[in-house]
Amino acid sequence: MNHLDQLVQQATAEFAAAADGAQLEQAKARYLGKSGSLTEQLKALGKLAAEERREAGAAINRAKGAIESSLEARRQALREAALLEQLAAEALDVTLPGRGQGTGGLHPVSRTLERIEGLFRSIGFVVADGPEIETDWHNFTALNTPANHPARSMHDTFYLEGHDDVLLRTHTSPVQVREMLAHVERYKDLDTMPELRIIVPGRVYRVDSDATHSPMFHQAEGLWIGENVSFADLKGVIADFLRKFFESEDLQVRFRPSFFPFTEPSAEIDVAFMSGALEGRWLEIAGCGMVHPNVLRFGGFDPERYTGFAFGMGPDRLTMLRYGVNDLRLFFEGDLRFLSQFK
Ligand code: PHE
Repeated sequence: MNHLDQLVQQATAEFAAAADGAQLEQAKARYLGKSGSLTEQLKALGKLAAEERREAGAAINRAKGAIESSLEARRQALREAALLEQLAAEALDVTLPGRGQGTGGLHPVSRTLERIEGLFRSIGFVVADGPEIETDWHNFTALNTPANHPARSMHDTFYLEGHDDVLLRTHTSPVQVREMLAHVERYKDLDTMPELRIIVPGRVYRVDSDATHSPMFHQAEGLWIGENVSFADLKGVIADFLRKFFESEDLQVRFRPSFFPFTEPSAEIDVAFMSGALEGRWLEIAGCGMVHPNVLRFGGFDPERYTGFAFGMGPDRLTMLRYGVNDLRLFFEGDLRFLSQFK
């Protein structure tokens, strides 16, 4: 190998060894700079005889070209490496979820309660509520369920230690009594007293827990008292409500004879869907009946003059049916992966 070839090879090796642009420029100076090895060769040309000079000059120029192109190749390689390094350092995972503010949303059962309130408001009902720690009198006695009445065993009740006369209400029905008493108190003059029409959503408590029962659950009580309120009104109001609630005109509604101490006659309300996964199955969603004369009396109404109907429905059950949820406990575990699906 002649001297020039060696120079080219050596320069290429040094360029390859340069770790960055600065080192590369230093290596370049050693060959192509003012006193670089190749420049020295060019300078030495002058000392050669004319015919030797041409050949030697051409050889040096070829070597120079080779060194320059290997320099350029190395520059290019270093630029690409630097770019890749920068890209890796500044890498952005565009698939990560954003850090924007969570928007939150209503709990599915709250949505149902709002729907119920809205639909009943639209037919002249007023939203009412009452205490969750209730007196034994409002929860049972005034609802025609005296202390020794066997119907009290229908509710597994949470009592408060050391307080025999208060309990966690087992249903929203005690609000019927509270609102009746408040209504006659408010309007004193019976001849101008308006009808009493209330819808009472709220939490209730029973000792019960499985996939379809929770010790805390919701009820929505309805009560309509007036001088000519009949069971036919009850059927009409309920059927109309359910069809609007489920947005289904061909929803089937059935009233099945039942017993509650505070209504007579009493019924369970069942619904059946005409399509979907539950097609044709009867599902119990509420209890209802004509307010018992004793309850009217406890509420301050004269049962000879007034009649009324009442119902108590399960908004949790309605929510499960509306959204196709099969385990009631999901509503009360607070798991955002579940809850955020209802936003
Ligand atoms: N309070 C009853 C229950 O909890 C439901 C009901 C309300 C029934 C009003 C009739 C009238 O089971």
